[in-house]
Amino acid sequence: MNMQIVIQTLSRWYNLESRDLPWRRTRDLYCIWVSEIILQQTRVVQGLAYYERFIAQLPDIQSLASAQEGEVLKLWQGLGYYSRARNLHKAAKMVVDELGGVFPSTFQDIQRLPGVGLYTAAAIASFAFGEKVPAIDGNVKRVGARFFGLTDEIQSQRFLKKLFPLLQDAMAFADANEFNQAMIELGATLCSPTQPKCEICPLESTCIARLQHLQKQLPVVQKKQKPVNKYFYFVDFRCGDHHAIVRRSDTGIWSHLHEFPLYEGDGEHLELSDIMKEWGLVEKIVIEGVKTIKHQLTHQTIHAKCWYLCLPDNKFVQKDGWMWLDREAILLLPLHRLMEKMIKFT
Ligand code: ADE
Repeated sequence: MNMQIVIQTLSRWYNLESRDLPWRRTRDLYCIWVSEIILQQTRVVQGLAYYERFIAQLPDIQSLASAQEGEVLKLWQGLGYYSRARNLHKAAKMVVDELGGVFPSTFQDIQRLPGVGLYTAAAIASFAFGEKVPAIDGNVKRVGARFFGLTDEIQSQRFLKKLFPLLQDAMAFADANEFNQAMIELGATLCSPTQPKCEICPLESTCIARLQHLQKQLPVVQKKQKPVNKYFYFVDFRCGDHHAIVRRSDTGIWSHLHEFPLYEGDGEHLELSDIMKEWGLVEKIVIEGVKTIKHQLTHQTIHAKCWYLCLPDNKFVQKDGWMWLDREAILLLPLHRLMEKMIKFT
């Protein structure tokens, strides 16, 4: 196979057929970085609006570094995987406070930033600095497995160890930015998991999976683990127009986001009275409503129940970490999506 011709064909296809995306129109390092962090676990269609809003509100690394974490999380609200936002903020502070405002410029050095792994470091290094290092995300792994006919399990280290040098060698003939963008684009638009559009693929005549009819067998993917069930019991204590709100701790899912007081149970069928007892509350209350919500995350199915309670006027319960806020103030806080769903009913 003549790799130089393959690269030329790929480049021609990319320049004619690729999507026009805002982070591809810029060489601004900050914009590229923010876009890559958003796109780590988010689809382009969903990420676009978040990207535009984020860049409009925090247009450069200095503004991000000096923002409050709450503001950054608010901009991230609804995207999930909130550690991305916290790490982005942390990394901006690190660059401004410890690196004199100079963003690292090599694949090796970029990896030292919080929230930046191999893929993201390679994406930034190649898109912003033209470094010839392959950016291998899930899409590119699929393209690579098919094109080179790699049979190791796609998430394994062995697979990555084989694909990385193959792509790096191929890049010798390519523009680094264009090559990586084109590979991502192929995986996202043509080389899909179940229905690859091989007939219109620029790599059709040299792709091993296509030539050997192995598109269905490649990539080799281990069966997904079933999500675990979690049982979350929330209580919306309302007193007048104020509600009790808690900020989640540093660890676990949704850390630093806000929600109604929560009791995490081991199983189903917990009663409100059990939870009140656990919390040492003996207030006179009126139950105004109950909602159950099933909330699906990638690795967890959360079976949530929320009781909506009314306390008598001015009987605010004071417990560690509880804040009493009205609806307007609550909506200004960073909330997770399940909390957004629950608050709809208040
Ligand atoms: N996913 C990750 N990086 C991307 C990029 N630069 N363009 C489109 N989708 C992506």
